[in-house]
Amino acid sequence: ETVAWDPEDAEKSGYDHYMLKEIHEQPSALRQCLRGRIDDLEGTVTLEDLDGLAHDGPVQFVACGTSYHAALVGAERLRRTGIPAQVFLASEYATDRVPVGADTLVVGVTQSGETADTLRALREAARAGATTLAVTNTVGSSAARECDHALYIRAGPEIGVAATKTFASQQLALDLLAAALGDGSDRAALKALRDIPGQVQTILETSDARAVAEAFVDADGYFFIGRGYHYPVALEGALKMKEITYRHAEGFAAGELKHGPLALVTENTPVFAVVTGDDEAARKTIGNVKEVEARDAPVVAITDGESDVTRYADHVLEIPAIDELSASVLANVQLQLVAYWVANQLGRSIDKPRNLAKSVTVE
Ligand code: G6P
Repeated sequence: ETVAWDPEDAEKSGYDHYMLKEIHEQPSALRQCLRGRIDDLEGTVTLEDLDGLAHDGPVQFVACGTSYHAALVGAERLRRTGIPAQVFLASEYATDRVPVGADTLVVGVTQSGETADTLRALREAARAGATTLAVTNTVGSSAARECDHALYIRAGPEIGVAATKTFASQQLALDLLAAALGDGSDRAALKALRDIPGQVQTILETSDARAVAEAFVDADGYFFIGRGYHYPVALEGALKMKEITYRHAEGFAAGELKHGPLALVTENTPVFAVVTGDDEAARKTIGNVKEVEARDAPVVAITDGESDVTRYADHVLEIPAIDELSASVLANVQLQLVAYWVANQLGRSIDKPRNLAKSVTVE
């Protein structure tokens, strides 16, 4: 008797898809990203790959797709330390004639290190005299070789076309970069980073995302809203949904909903709102949640329960009460799972969605 043996199935270690396996690899990927880099007694971050890069001038990020969303997090994180930082879609950067000079650090965020648009943007920046840094998963990639510096996110190989664990690792790596360049001295914040892998693990074990996905598998479309660090997560939540379900999904800065997208909101378009803490930003997003609730849209709150957003929500995906950036990592895990389970219900080609490639090497 012979047993049918598919090497691909063996590599998926019991998961139906690489994507689900990679979602579950996030705790270990994040531990790898942190390993040896933070000293929470001294309150310092050491990124060995940066060879003592010190920079206090302006920072520009260039990236595409999911990496662009991570770059939005990184830039906001730097701005909150007082460093001026901007983000550009790599495909626009070359033709937009962005002012860049010798005092500028240009950071290419690219999982593969081979995305043509990002490489082109980095080359333009280098030609203009900027210092360049690749934040990448791939040792020896074109971006790592061509840039002045490289920071590795250490997520391990990612097979699924839709980026999952590499996004989480990018978020964390860019947090470390900001700490290294800016305010590396907040011991409590650095110590809290060590808790993130375990918190991701808890979400993976307890998430209600599958039930939420089942409730909304026949929706007309999906909207995602957030503010601050949760805005890129809203964009990324929508991108995952588009990529693997082939359904219409959009992410918005919560405050923009009323400037147009609200016209699309109906009782058949669930709105996923990422709301953590109970500060002014949270209260404003809750105001936006009320606006969609008044139009009978189902609301899914991804929240730590610190505010009263749950009062307006039909479903709740819980995350622990922690700092906003860490919360954005965890909220994203919940949204990865929602997209995965919607796509799974629809029988989509989850690891190799139609028309998409893991790495796009043409401009
Ligand atoms: C492709 C992939 C995306 C990825 C983007 C940027 O479009 O399908 O998942 O986010 O490229 O890739 P990079 O390797 O530069 O991060």
